[in-house]
Amino acid sequence: MTRTNPRDAPAAHPAAADEDALKELIAGELGAVRDRSFGLTTDVLDEAGLTSQVSPLMSPLVWDLAHVGNYEELWLLRAAAGADAMRPEIDGLYDAFEHPRAERPSLPLLPPDEARSYIGTVRAKVLDSLPSVRFDTADPLTSGGFVYGMVVQHEHMHDETMLATHQLRKGAPALLDPVAEPLRKDPSAGSGIGEVLIEAGPFQMGTSDDPWAYDNERPAHVVDLPAYYIDVEPVTNAAYISFMEAGGYDDPRWWDPAGWEWRAHHAGNHHAGNHHAGNHHAGNHRADGAGGKRAPAFWHREGGQWLRRRFGRTEPVPPDEPVQHVSWYEADAYARWAGKRLPTEAEWEKAARWDPAAGRSRRFPWGDAYEEGRANLGQRALRPSETGAYASGASAYGVRRLLGDVWEWTSSDFGGYPGFRSFPYKEYSEVFFGPEYKVLRGGSWATHPLAVRGSFRNWDYPIRRQIFSGFRCARSVDGEWR
Ligand code: AVJ
Ligand code: FE
Repeated sequence: MTRTNPRDAPAAHPAAADEDALKELIAGELGAVRDRSFGLTTDVLDEAGLTSQVSPLMSPLVWDLAHVGNYEELWLLRAAAGADAMRPEIDGLYDAFEHPRAERPSLPLLPPDEARSYIGTVRAKVLDSLPSVRFDTADPLTSGGFVYGMVVQHEHMHDETMLATHQLRKGAPALLDPVAEPLRKDPSAGSGIGEVLIEAGPFQMGTSDDPWAYDNERPAHVVDLPAYYIDVEPVTNAAYISFMEAGGYDDPRWWDPAGWEWRAHHAGNHHAGNHHAGNHHAGNHRADGAGGKRAPAFWHREGGQWLRRRFGRTEPVPPDEPVQHVSWYEADAYARWAGKRLPTEAEWEKAARWDPAAGRSRRFPWGDAYEEGRANLGQRALRPSETGAYASGASAYGVRRLLGDVWEWTSSDFGGYPGFRSFPYKEYSEVFFGPEYKVLRGGSWATHPLAVRGSFRNWDYPIRRQIFSGFRCARSVDGEWR
C-alpha cells in the first residue's frame, strides 16, 4: 500500500485497533515518506546538487537522506528488532550531535548512490522484521507502534528541513509547485478577520494517550488561563507591510532589546554563526542591506513593489497569505506595534484544542480524526493558503488555520511539562529545554499530517527564519501586554 503522493494523508488514526492493521498502516507510511524524501533529493538533483551546501545553516541534502536511514537503523533494526549495527563506522557521521550542520560537507559522507542503497537496505530489513516485532503494551517503545511512528515522523521532519534547504538554494528551480494558483478561500466561507474571546478557565494541555506523541507533549495536565483574545487568522503579508511602512523596523519601542540588536546587524557580520540565513543567502540581501533587517527573509523591493523569491522563482508578495519567513523577534515586534502580543503556547493550544461544550481537548482543531481538506498540510502546494481558506478547519472557538500554512511563533520558551519524562532519548527534546528556544505551533504547509497535531511542539532560536514561520497575535482582556 505504498502511496506516491505526499498529499494523500493517512486514512486512519495511528491507534489502529489491531496490531496487523497498525503494521499495514506503518508499512504504507514508511513507503510514502520515502517517496517524499526521494522527491526532494535524488529525483530532482544531480550529485553536485545533493552534496553541496547551500547555507551553513543547513546540511547537504545527501546528509539528511543517509541520516534518516541511519536513525531508522538505530531505532527500528537495533532497538526494536534487536539487530546488530550494519555499518558502525558511519554512525558518527550521521549523529546530529557529533557534527554541527556547518561541518557536515567536509565529512566523508556516503555519496548519493551509496546513501540510497544503504537506506534501501535498512528499509528492506525493517519491512522483513516488522511482522515479528511484538507491539507490547507493557513496552513504551513498541506499544501502539510508537517507535515506528517516531521514525516516520522523523523522516517527515527532515523532509520539511530539506524544503527549507531548497528554499535557500540559488540557481535554477529544482521543485515544481504542483498547484499553480494561490490556495484561495472558499467564497462562501466569509471573512475570518478579527479576534475571538477565549473565556477564562481551565483546559487540558498536552496528552497522555496519543500513541505517537513525543515526550515533550506529555503528560496531559490542567492549565487555568485568564480570558484573552486571539486572532482568527495568522497575520498576513498585507498587515505586515503596514508595519514595515509605518517604520516598524526603525522604532526600538516595538523590539525586544535582543531583537533590536539582531535587526540592526549588518550584512557580513558573522559573529555567533547564527545570523547567516538572513544575511548571505537567497537574494534577500537587498532587503537586508547595510542598515540590517528590513523585511522578511527572501523579500526584496523593486519598482515600489515587494517581491519574494520562492523556490527559485521571483513573484509579487501575495497580500492575503500569512507572512512567512519571519523570526520570533519580528513577530514579537509586529505584535507590540499592533497593540497586541504573541500568544503563550498554552493560549495557542487552548484556542486550538479545547472544546468548552464537551469539556475536553481535541486532537485536531476540528475533531479527533485527521480529515483531508481541513488544513493546508502535507506539501500540497509549496506555499501557505490565503486568509479565509480552510474555514472548515476552525477550532471549537472558531479560530482558523491553526494547523498548516505557517508555523506560529508563541511567546513561550521550550520546556518540559509538569511530570515530564524524557523518552526514548533525551536528545530529541530535553537537551533543548531552556530560554534560548521559542516554541512554534501548528505546522506549516510543508509539515505532513502525521508529524503534527494540536499538542505538537516545535522549537527554534528566535533569530531563525529560513523555516516556514509566521504568527498570529493575542491580547489580554485587561489590556495588559504580558
Ligand atoms: C523538532 C524540528 C526542532 O529538526 O531539530 C530532527 C526535529 N530531531 N532530527 C529538528 C528533529 C531530530 C527537530 N525539530
Ligand atoms: Fe534527525
